[in-house]
Amino acid sequence: MDRRELIRSTAALATMGTLAGRIAAAAEGEPLPTPTPADQQTTVLITGASRGIGLEFAQRYAARDWRVLATCRDPGRAEALQALAKKHANLVVEPLDVLDHAGIDALAARYATQPIDILLNNAGIGGGMENQLFGRLNYATFNEVMAVNAIGPMKVCEAFVKHVEASRLRKMMTVSSSQGSIGSVDAARLYWYRSSKSALNMLMVNLAFQLKSRGIIVGLVTPGATDTDFMKGLPKKMLRPVADAVTDMVREIDRFDLSMTGQFLDTKGQILPW
Ligand SMILES: NC(=O)c1ccc[n+]([C@@H]2O[C@H](COP(=O)([O-])OP(=O)(O)OC[C@H]3O[C@@H](n4cnc5c(N)ncnc54)[C@H](OP(=O)(O)O)[C@@H]3O)[C@@H](O)[C@H]2O)c1
Repeated sequence: MDRRELIRSTAALATMGTLAGRIAAAAEGEPLPTPTPADQQTTVLITGASRGIGLEFAQRYAARDWRVLATCRDPGRAEALQALAKKHANLVVEPLDVLDHAGIDALAARYATQPIDILLNNAGIGGGMENQLFGRLNYATFNEVMAVNAIGPMKVCEAFVKHVEASRLRKMMTVSSSQGSIGSVDAARLYWYRSSKSALNMLMVNLAFQLKSRGIIVGLVTPGATDTDFMKGLPKKMLRPVADAVTDMVREIDRFDLSMTGQFLDTKGQILPW
């Protein structure tokens, strides 16, 4: 990316942070400013922030006064997230579809100068129960669920690794599911969804080994059965409020350090079997 492009791309950040503002304001020919500790307002990037758990994460981190890059597939239709952005000047909404690898790279390039303390892979799909019944398996759904739930988060981590490495907290956190725990399976259901979360777990454990020497912490958290659109149709009494699920995960994400990298934690912070 050349200097003009960098200045243009960071101009949108000018209202959000002093470093970005200084870069945007730098005159042609001047050296670009380097980040100082004061520039490093803690920053989180969240995928799938339009609703459910991702929206609640965005709200929590915005309330902490962190810089929140709340991404979603279609900002024009993400009304609740847009309303949150109106309340919090420290939250920006960015378009990001985790199936669009070129789009992920483009967003990473636009934020090339932005350290990201927590990269939070939250976006995910269930695939629909009816597509995952043995005898009537919809094989196309398998590809879709894997692409969103496993390949998408991996691509996001790969694209943003330098941003995370440049940050203070250096965390790559992913919302997995106890349904991905092979050791916990006691009945047949959700073939595709479960497989995608098991694959996601393996990808993130690999990544934990890959990045440990660079000081990057990779972690997997789980919300438990939570009352979002994801669980529509299930009796409410089986589900926990989204606020409780996010409280648990935020606590565990805060707690993750390099000695824990690669762990897969349940809602109480206990290690789940693979
Ligand atoms: N709810 C539970 O009980 C539960 C339990 C275990 C694990 N989880 C995990 O928690 C995460 C969040 O789930 P949720 O309950 O909040 O589900 P949700 O209410 O259905 O929200 C899913 C989010 O993912 C986004 N998304 C879907 N496909 C995407 C794509 N290709 N690119 C970017 N974003 C995409 C959706 O965006 P749109 O608005 O554009 O569709 C939405 O923001 C998922 O990873 C899920 O597997 C949930």
